[in-house]
Order: sequence, then structure tokens, then C-alpha cells
Amino acid sequence: MKKLIDFIKEAEEKKVAIGHFNVSDIVGLKAVFAAARELNVPVIIGVSEGEWDFIGVRQIVALVKSLREEYGYPIFLNADHTHSLEKLKEAIEAGFDAVMFDNSQLSLEGNIKKTKEVVEYVKNFNPEILVEAELGNIKGSSTILLTSDVDNIKEGDLTKPNEAEQFIKETGVDLFAPAVGNIHGLIINGNPKLDIGRIKEIRKFAGIPLVLHGGSGIKDEDFSAAINAGISVIHINTELRVAWRKGMEAALAQNPEEIVPYKILPKAVEEIEKVVEARLRLFNKI
Ligand code: G3H
Ligand code: ZN
Repeated sequence: MKKLIDFIKEAEEKKVAIGHFNVSDIVGLKAVFAAARELNVPVIIGVSEGEWDFIGVRQIVALVKSLREEYGYPIFLNADHTHSLEKLKEAIEAGFDAVMFDNSQLSLEGNIKKTKEVVEYVKNFNPEILVEAELGNIKGSSTILLTSDVDNIKEGDLTKPNEAEQFIKETGVDLFAPAVGNIHGLIINGNPKLDIGRIKEIRKFAGIPLVLHGGSGIKDEDFSAAINAGISVIHINTELRVAWRKGMEAALAQNPEEIVPYKILPKAVEEIEKVVEARLRLFNKI
């Protein structure tokens, strides 16, 4: 099977993007896999530190690997928003395909120094594992946000193209996550506004594929413009969490006496799958 980097480069050539979906359990994993398989597109499963602590680091690797092997399917696993080398070691030793090292709260110099160490460590361990890093300030967290959170994104939070170039050159990362108006979380009564010109400019300076974080709540037309401007991977989390909750609540309301998990959980799978399928259709221009 082709490697993850080949799928990402292919996506970039075709001006489409690979969907990266965070999961906390097998319900999310089943839903993402079913939607991707339905459309026959490659997909990335993301787990951040909290998510993989819940599932188990070796357990999520085993689950994703078993789907990849049983179905011969291009499904990959990313350690999302890893904040320390210690945590990152857990992921690469367990067998993740990619890691995202997030030290974006540091100064440019501090972020370069730490990320460079991480890239060296990971590539020394296994050169095929992809390393992604973030520069700039992508605010929020994968939960429900207030409109004011998006209004608080200031020019100074956004990634500067020349700094992106320096960061990538000096660290040797494979993938780059810029701050371009995106925010983690789903905003009530509002949408983040992406700076498409900045994405284009950053892609030119970066010379490597770009990853868009904070996908929840971004408008369809902004996604399409961002992909055309140079985004090759898109992260979505909150929309899946909302769908999970909606599915669980509906199933419990419909069957208030039910205690059998496998009779309740399919509704959550179904709701998540709908969200993932819609996003994958858009990202892959299907
Ligand atoms: O890394 C995770 C993503 O960036 C998720 O962002 O919760 O806004 O979809 P989101
Ligand atoms: Zn993110």
C-alpha cells in the first residue's frame, strides 16, 4: 500500500484534501471508517492526548491497523496535538503513522528549537513517521464556543508566511499547520472566516503540504477555497462530538428502558457517519 505522504501529495495534485477525524472510542472509529469506505477515499484518524489516554495508545493502533489490514484500506493514525516529547514517544513506539507536535504557545525561536529536537528524534526512530507542527496561534478547543471567541482572533495570531518558511527550513517538519483564521471548536451562531490569500502565500513559502485545524463550523465555500489555495489535510473534531451526543440522546429517548450498549450505540455511529460523509464528499470533490 502507498504511504500516507503519497496520499497527501496525491491529494494536493488533485486539489482535494484528506479528512482527518478525531475519535474517542470505537463508535467514532466505526463511523469514520464506514463513511470513508462508502466513498472509497483515504482517511486519517486523529487522537489527541486525552482521546488516546481514554482508548489506550496501543489499543487505538491495533484497531486502526486491523481495519487497514483486514480491508486493505488506506486508513492512518495521527497523534494529534502532542505537547511533550515523552507523550510523543508513547505514540511512535506504539506504531502511529504521524504525529503532530504542538508547541505553538512558544516564541518562534522556542518553537523551532523544540520542534527540531522532536523531528530528529522521530526520524531517527522511523523516518517514515510524518511530523506535523503548528506555528501561530490557533485558539479555542474542540467544544461549543461563543461568537466572541472568533472575534478575538487578531492579526497577530495568524501565521506569517516568512516565519513559516524559516520554521519549516530549520525544523524539517513534513506537514505544516498554519493559523489562518481557523479556531478549534464550534461557534454558536457564527463561522470562522479563513484568510484564503494567506493560505496561498504560506503554501508558496512553505514548500510542504498544509494542514487545516479547527475544521468544525467552517463554511463549505471556505473549505473549497482553502483546498484550492493549498490545504491538503483537514481536521474535524467538534462536529463529530456534537453528532455523537445527538445520536446518544435520540437513542436513549427512543428506548428509555434499553440497557444493551450495542442497541443504543448504532444511532451515535449513524449520526457521526452522516457528518463525516458530508465532509468527505466536500473535501474530495465527490
Ligand atoms: O486537531 C483537531 C482539529 O483541529 C479539530 O478542530 O474541533 O474545530 O473541528 P474542531
Ligand atoms: Zn487541531
